Amino acid sequence: MTDPLEQIDQVEKQAAAELAAVTDARTLEQFRIKFLGSSGLAKNLTKLIGEAAKEQKRIVGARVNEAKNRVEQAFNERKEVIASQPTSDRDHVDVTEPGRRPIHGNHHILMKVVDELTELFGRMGFSVASGPEVEDEFHNFVALNIPEAHPARDPLDNFYLETPGQDGQLLLRTQTSTVQIRVMQEQKPPIRVVIPGRVYRPDTTDATHLPMFHQLEALVVDRDVTMVDLKSTVMQFAYAYFGKDTRVRFRPSFFPFTEPSAEVDVWFEDKQRWIELGGCGMVHPNVLTNCGIDPEEYTGWAFGLGIERIAMRKYGISDIRSFVENDIRFLRQF
Ligand code: DAH
Repeated sequence: MTDPLEQIDQVEKQAAAELAAVTDARTLEQFRIKFLGSSGLAKNLTKLIGEAAKEQKRIVGARVNEAKNRVEQAFNERKEVIASQPTSDRDHVDVTEPGRRPIHGNHHILMKVVDELTELFGRMGFSVASGPEVEDEFHNFVALNIPEAHPARDPLDNFYLETPGQDGQLLLRTQTSTVQIRVMQEQKPPIRVVIPGRVYRPDTTDATHLPMFHQLEALVVDRDVTMVDLKSTVMQFAYAYFGKDTRVRFRPSFFPFTEPSAEVDVWFEDKQRWIELGGCGMVHPNVLTNCGIDPEEYTGWAFGLGIERIAMRKYGISDIRSFVENDIRFLRQF
């Protein structure tokens, strides 16, 4: 067996040599574990005391302590030197570096358009109203002068809900015109509201149709309100929102809740064709009566326009499906 004193010398030399090569906190820690840890080499030296011959024990013990202290001291000195060194490039914090921005979400393009529209109509004196998306037949049909036998009430054209025990059928509203009724039931003329909202129809999806889309409804009821007010308001809106050169046309049409009725088309320059934005007309006297408003005293006009189509015309979006596909590359553009 080698002499314990020699072994102690050796460990001490080894420690000194390895410590000299330590230049950073990581290798310093490795050194600490190897030499000073709970099962480190310095600890092992303690065993030598037990193994030494009786008369040698004191000398060996003293040497072990001395060696341990020296290694520890050298370690502490090295540690201070390393701590006072500038940190490596990787750990270095450059306080002048511009921060990284957190990723922000943004409003969906449709919600932006809704804001723009309600703001624009707000400037024309309209307030905003809303109503439920799950409706009863009274508000979706009856009060709007759509009789029982009308094809618009066909189950194939509506999302009726199964609600056992409920009086009368419920459905997802097919038009925001339902809210005209709710507004007139609650407010007396003069009325001047716009109603943005979701509507549902079992349509086949294609580039211009979705089974769920948004409409902007408008309702004006007052004394002496005429078709001229309706037409000029729609034109004013189109020029203000799409630009002065916008081509708008009104086509005679039919809706049970308006008389006369018209459809509003806007020229889509990119598609080189007219696209229907929605319907409008003078509120049918029956509808006013259904809401407790005297049609001899008051008249009104209304329109319901597709918000997706308005957004498509305004922002040059060619496919209505883009609004619901949630492709982040599309959404980020707006
Ligand atoms: N509700 C109709 C639809 O969904 C659009 C409409 C036409 C709304 C005439 C109106 C209106 O307010 O007066 O197709």
